[in-house]
Amino acid sequence: MDLTGAALSEAEVYIQTHLPLTEVDDLPGARMHLAGPRSGLSRLQRLNPHFMMPYWAHLWGGGRALVRFLAERPEAVAGRRVMDLGSGSGLVSIAAARAGAASILAVDVDPYAVVATRLNAALNGVALTILQADITGEPVPGVDIILVGDVFYELGLAEQMTAFLDRCLEARLEILVGDPGREFLPRDRLGLISDYEVADFGGRIPGVAGVFRFQR
Ligand SMILES: C[S@@+](CC[C@H](N)C(=O)[O-])C[C@H]1O[C@@H](n2cnc3c(N)ncnc32)[C@H](O)[C@@H]1O
Repeated sequence: MDLTGAALSEAEVYIQTHLPLTEVDDLPGARMHLAGPRSGLSRLQRLNPHFMMPYWAHLWGGGRALVRFLAERPEAVAGRRVMDLGSGSGLVSIAAARAGAASILAVDVDPYAVVATRLNAALNGVALTILQADITGEPVPGVDIILVGDVFYELGLAEQMTAFLDRCLEARLEILVGDPGREFLPRDRLGLISDYEVADFGGRIPGVAGVFRFQR
């Protein structure tokens, strides 16, 4: 699905009008357009029959854990070329910029996520390159490190992501995964670095999420 012309402006206006500017606990001073009780995302769905699950409208435990990790250890990305895989709202990209990344490539398959990432990055004065793509079918990116926030929530997707990340590992990229322990997380391929008490799904479900190194 592509968003162009009128549909693109409609998405921008909808997000800016109906997703209130919300402060983000884990990123002091940052504000993002996030879904609230009156955002009516089903209205947006009615405007576009190809509408996907609006993951981009919420913050997720995996991304939040990566944000906390980068606040503690900015040297993980400082001066490095970063890819934010499955950028959603753009949360992890904004955190990587704050930690001093040299460049950030935010990638998401969902065109609404691309719009949300662009708007949220601009709101927080962050420069990004944003790509709409199913990353699993793309070549290994020209970056140093990949931050993977919460993308192991479906079996098929988890298998595709793992195969893609394997190619990236072979190309000697560093890969850090943030995840609250979703069902399809490839646990045997992950080494825990640290874990954090972070709320999942827009702050509504308290829990713990880890930051892991993806490895052989
Ligand atoms: C649960 S959200 C996590 C968003 C963000 N990383 C966070 O932690 O807040 C997962 C994101 O991965 C994106 N995604 C799913 N499959 C993808 C694919 N094949 N390539 C790129 N992005 C994908 C979804 O569109 C969604 O925005």
